[in-house]
Amino acid sequence: MFPDHAPFTPDQRKRLEVALAGLDPVQRGWLSGFLASGSASVASAPAAAAPTKLVVLYGTESGNAESLSDRAAKEAKKRGFQVVVKNMSELSATDLAKVSDLLVVVSTWGDGEPPESASSFYKELMAADLKLAGTRFTVCALGDTSYDKFCQTGKDVDARLEALGATRVAPRQDCDVDYEENFTAWLAAALAAFAPQVAEPVIAASPATAASVPAVEYGKKNPFPSEVVEHLVLNGEGSTKETLHVGLSLEGSGLVYEPGDALAVLPVNADDVVAAVIAAAKLTGDESVEVKGEGSKRLADALREHFDITAVSRAVLTKLQAATGSAELAALLADDAKDQLKAWTYGREIVDALEAFAPAGLDADQLVGILRKLPPRLYSIASSPLAHPGEVHLTVAAVRYESHGRKRKGVCSTYLADLVKEGSQTRVFVQPNKHFRLPASGETPVIMVGPGTGVAPFRAFVEHRSALGHPGKNWLFFGDQRYTYDFLYQLEWQDHLKSGVLSKLDVAFSRDQPEKIYVQQKMLEHAKELYAWLEEGAHFYVCGDASRMAQDVHEALISIVEKQGNKTREAAEAYLDELKKSHRYQRDVY
Ligand SMILES: Cc1cc2nc3c(=O)[nH]c(=O)nc-3n(C[C@H](O)[C@H](O)[C@H](O)COP(=O)(O)OP(=O)(O)OC[C@H]3O[C@@H](n4cnc5c(N)ncnc54)[C@H](O)[C@@H]3O)c2cc1C
Ligand SMILES: NC(=O)c1ccc[n+]([C@@H]2O[C@H](COP(=O)([O-])OP(=O)(O)OC[C@H]3O[C@@H](n4cnc5c(N)ncnc54)[C@H](OP(=O)(O)O)[C@@H]3O)[C@@H](O)[C@H]2O)c1
Ligand SMILES: Cc1cc2nc3c(=O)[nH]c(=O)nc-3n(C[C@H](O)[C@H](O)[C@H](O)COP(=O)(O)O)c2cc1C
Repeated sequence: MFPDHAPFTPDQRKRLEVALAGLDPVQRGWLSGFLASGSASVASAPAAAAPTKLVVLYGTESGNAESLSDRAAKEAKKRGFQVVVKNMSELSATDLAKVSDLLVVVSTWGDGEPPESASSFYKELMAADLKLAGTRFTVCALGDTSYDKFCQTGKDVDARLEALGATRVAPRQDCDVDYEENFTAWLAAALAAFAPQVAEPVIAASPATAASVPAVEYGKKNPFPSEVVEHLVLNGEGSTKETLHVGLSLEGSGLVYEPGDALAVLPVNADDVVAAVIAAAKLTGDESVEVKGEGSKRLADALREHFDITAVSRAVLTKLQAATGSAELAALLADDAKDQLKAWTYGREIVDALEAFAPAGLDADQLVGILRKLPPRLYSIASSPLAHPGEVHLTVAAVRYESHGRKRKGVCSTYLADLVKEGSQTRVFVQPNKHFRLPASGETPVIMVGPGTGVAPFRAFVEHRSALGHPGKNWLFFGDQRYTYDFLYQLEWQDHLKSGVLSKLDVAFSRDQPEKIYVQQKMLEHAKELYAWLEEGAHFYVCGDASRMAQDVHEALISIVEKQGNKTREAAEAYLDELKKSHRYQRDVY
């Protein structure tokens, strides 16, 4: 394969030939030409002698960016890179000046914000006056097209690195929730751009024997069909809320979880919603359509099981506009009509878009062509595996509302409320959340703020500490609308108080009196004691509504630290930043 003058020992020659045989034809052609030209010696070949050092940097909230970074690192190592994987939470932006090759995977949360654990790094990067002329980079942005600020953090990081003088070696990849294909393509392009490779010799895999075939592995790529073993409404009759307790069996799944993790549930769409979409598209439902990885399916079945048929986003509307040529929709999608688009989409779904902009209907292929894959939903796990071996519990608020003259229902929460019964099966996988964990020491005091379904992980925390006999103090702030109907898991909390596992319980029932009372008011009422717990080393946790509650609780906390600690606001904020950095202030908000 190589001319005699090529500077290889016989052994090196043999290894290279084996390595080349394992590459695809394009890589093989390029690399064998390069090596055979004699212009490179093995010693100076970039990957063989001085492997390129690649930093894989991720920012994550629910773990996707982290697991993709691990995959990127594995793949890069296979291709001869020296790899360091870093969480943005453990890196200062100024460290980037020392990085020559940088691969970033980062998600977007809140309303176009960085993941909580990446926020300090992000702020620092945006403000830093760095010279990154020696840095080469590429960014993979994780997001969800149903959010206005799709992949905003990845976009910001990508633009900022370029502005600081770094060189983009491969274009940014923006990924929707179904990121597998885009991520894989981006990674291949990114690694190829960073360096040519001399692969490790490829050792042909021996044909699998029956004994070596692994047992079925369940997870994100292969969700477990779990049996529903408990299904009950937690609110009393007369409540305006509908909060479900759903128990699922993990027997035989091999799935494990820790308190703080979430469970992803793969829903199916309700028949009436499927029927409305089919009617709006002027189809029958019996048409045949192709579903990636599934082959041909009847349209109604495909819509029920595989496609997101409700969330209306710019991405869906752009495809709908291309399919229909609607001038009205084109105007709504114009760059200067962002506010109008936001106003139009609020409270609307795909069925409304079809009615408004596709009055003549679509053909079945056009319809599935505008839709994305139905994404799973996450639920904070509400059980400890020690208290409920082989099971996992969820606390789910059914989303139901009326808008633009139609009754609406959240896909997954009402799938769990209406379509799932004891004995039925639902597909799930565990989504680990390393950033929401009980303290390592069982003696450390814990303060938990969890109104509404936000209480879910704290049921798991308290059960876990109880099962382990941990002596640390536990203080729960719970809130919901009314004491009589909405005191979720009331009897269990009373038992935990009696047994001493729960040291303190403060509740805020918002609608039991003319003035609203929320959990943060209860925190303020107990400011002195709460600050004393923090000073003793307590960990502080918040779970539930991100849009208002988590921010109001944060404000209350600043005020408590300010007053009780005799600090300025800036010093109180710095105190809380420090708590966050030392993982003593953790949030799981959505
Ligand atoms: C880490 C994490 C943990 C979570 N834990 C829990 C949990 O323990 N319990 C729980 O119940 N949920 C939890 N959630 C939320 C959960 O994942 C789902 O988002 C929730 O159940 C709604 O999903 P859905 O499919 O029912 O609704 P979807 O079909 O996704 O519809 C929700 C959408 O409907 C729209 N909408 C809702 N209400 C209105 C309204 N009044 N007016 C106009 N539009 C409206 C909004 O666009 C909203 O985004 C968690 C989320 C995350 C990320
Ligand atoms: N992303 C999604 O699609 C989605 C879906 C479902 C739920 N969620 C979020 O999950 C949260 C939990 O839902 P839930 O129905 O169990 O409970 P919830 O709506 O959060 O309500 C729980 C309690 O919190 C109170 N509350 C309202 N605003 C507050 C604030 N600013 N600070 C502190 N407390 C406040 C409520 O009072 P009042 O109601 O009386 O004001 C109620 O007493 C929801 O708020 C919602 O944001 C998100
Ligand atoms: C509460 C919440 C807010 C989100 N906000 C956005 C957003 O503003 N823009 C976006 O593109 N994606 C948004 N997403 C989608 C996440 O970025 C997406 O699920 C991503 O895969 C999460 O990756 P991670 O697990 O690494 O954090 C949001 C998701 C949730 C649950």
